[in-house]
Amino acid sequence: MTLTPILPDQDAIELAANCLHDGGLVAFPTETVYGLGADATNDRAVARIFEAKGRPQFNPLISHVSGLEMAMELGQFGALAKELADAFWPGPLTLVVKRSHACPVSLLASAGLETIALRMPNHVVAQGLINRVQRPLAAPSANPSGGVSPTTAAHVAEGLGDRLDMILDGGPCEVGLESTVVSVSDGEDVRLLRPGTITRSELEAVCGAVVSADGHAIEAPGMLASHYAPNSAVRLNAKSASPNEALLAFGPDIVPHTGPSENLSPAGDLLEAAANLFTMLRRLDARQPKGIAVMPIPQAGIGEAINDRLTRAAAPRS
Ligand code: TXA
Ligand code: MG
Repeated sequence: MTLTPILPDQDAIELAANCLHDGGLVAFPTETVYGLGADATNDRAVARIFEAKGRPQFNPLISHVSGLEMAMELGQFGALAKELADAFWPGPLTLVVKRSHACPVSLLASAGLETIALRMPNHVVAQGLINRVQRPLAAPSANPSGGVSPTTAAHVAEGLGDRLDMILDGGPCEVGLESTVVSVSDGEDVRLLRPGTITRSELEAVCGAVVSADGHAIEAPGMLASHYAPNSAVRLNAKSASPNEALLAFGPDIVPHTGPSENLSPAGDLLEAAANLFTMLRRLDARQPKGIAVMPIPQAGIGEAINDRLTRAAAPRS
């Protein structure tokens, strides 16, 4: 069954906000493209985004905020980041900054990175929705992985209509091209990670030189064989763990282990496993084991993205 987009009047926004609070997926219009939104603080809801898009990898997602105040709760804003937000928000500029210490946004939305991408969209429906939810909304473009970004609600329904809970129809997007993404995470340079509507010269008029991100491979997640690897060595497809290893288990049939252990999903639910992946890896890593033994994860559905990330975590370090 495919969804019919609905007009975003007050009642629809209210429904959509409740749906998001319950962990649902709501496509909403922004000035750039339609976003596939979920409560960014809900691990499982964020996992559903990846599942719905059919992404074979966990690319980090943009958290959409109601303004600088919400943004500053989630990320560390130095003078430079504030200057850029002042100049371009609301609007098609995404700022990558360090996550704040108590950042409530799912680590899955950050794909395990120490940084977070934030944007205040310039669209009355997007703003109305975030204000009503009072939480950041994680939202990639609302198209199946590898497809073209949608600029109308009909595009969204065509591509993802059977995988979402609601589509808010705000008409065609004005800009039609994704936001410009810059990193200011070191507090000094502005690095262009993705060109977009806001041009390099517009940025430079506000903040001086903009550095190209080529060579900053760590900031283009997914490009590196090994990125965000835990400190401990990772061993995949383990049937059991040795006493000085930590065990990252999956499913009901686990071998007893005396060292630190976590189970991604005792029920063997891949969505739950995706939701728990980064948090559990970190928790185990913090115990400083000799290594982390990871049980096999089925390659089906979102399992492919989980395995992609685990393979990177286990890749030889350079
Ligand atoms: O206009 C847009 O930006 C749209 C609307 C819905 O806001 N969203 C969008 O999201 O295009 P998506 O997921 O298709 O692209 C997000 C981009 C990716 O290039 C991703 O790598 C980058 O932002 N990104 C997100 N978090 C990042 C981080 N912590 N560090 C570096 N890059 C990040
Ligand atoms: Mg996209």
